[in-house]
Amino acid sequence: MRKLVSAAFMALLTLSSAVAAENYPSHPITIVVPFSAGGPSDAMTRILAERMKATLGEAILVENTTGAGGSIGVGRVVHSAPDGYTIGFGHLGTHVANGAIYKLGYDLVTDLEPVVLLPSNPMIIVSKNAVPAKSLNELLAWLKSRPEPATAGTAGAGSGSHIAGLAFEAASGVKLQYVPYRGTGPAMNDLVAGQIDLIVDQLSNSINQVRAGTIRGYAVTDAKRAEQASDIPTADEAGLPGFHMTLWSGLWVPKGTPKEIVTKLNAAAVDALNDPGVRRQLENLGLQMPPADRLTPEALGDWQKAEIAKWWPVIKAANVKVD
Ligand code: MLT
Repeated sequence: MRKLVSAAFMALLTLSSAVAAENYPSHPITIVVPFSAGGPSDAMTRILAERMKATLGEAILVENTTGAGGSIGVGRVVHSAPDGYTIGFGHLGTHVANGAIYKLGYDLVTDLEPVVLLPSNPMIIVSKNAVPAKSLNELLAWLKSRPEPATAGTAGAGSGSHIAGLAFEAASGVKLQYVPYRGTGPAMNDLVAGQIDLIVDQLSNSINQVRAGTIRGYAVTDAKRAEQASDIPTADEAGLPGFHMTLWSGLWVPKGTPKEIVTKLNAAAVDALNDPGVRRQLENLGLQMPPADRLTPEALGDWQKAEIAKWWPVIKAANVKVD
């Protein structure tokens, strides 16, 4: 009898999950951005959400849940219902580096389901305008001449801007004093105001300020110059050969989200990435679209695992302390 009841219960559960997936979405969806409004993660998410809601037919709310290098926001997604109504935005920092720095209380691979790889961009070394340097070599000389380390804004330990700062220190031999914010949106406000000296920032976050002349850009961490900022040399050209770093992003949902729902979300995100208006907005920020053959959920999952294998030994060797 007990087996009969259990089998009936499981059948009912399977049926209700299939019905839920069939009717999905039936109410607004939330995308959790683990950094402050006004930063690059927030900007990309809002551009995509605006187009995805048209495909999904429901409102998409963007919620900024910040702190601890983005790991608070990711935890919010991990512990939400696996029903497709809570999606997580993340990137190299939140879904790779944080696992090597924090005791997260969740597993970045087994507690999440990958949905889709999103655009990526190189980092750019930027400073406040008051820094007396007009080239990367002059910036390096200025940094090395200072009695105290220069201040570098980040989005917290383990964030993309923090990992990029560590990579910059390793490449240049310069020491930085990190100033953590809840995102590189507020960090940028302080850079423009001259409150901090520099950021090793996502190009998409700095490009408009560099164009406006409110901050100074020195080099991008890519093998070639960015089309949208072609006057900014690569680090190879400017005096830091081999300093390459690409910050990629993606969407994830909690483990156990029905596959049919992951498929619907993936399709809506791919539609948005293929929309000419969305591509124009993202490419104008210096973002590079993911290749068409890397847009499946499995491709993001494989990429995240490969990046963990690549970055964890480097980050652990840096012995990053989080307070
Ligand atoms: C980072 O530094 O990880 C991100 O650029 C932070 C953000 O998107 O605000």
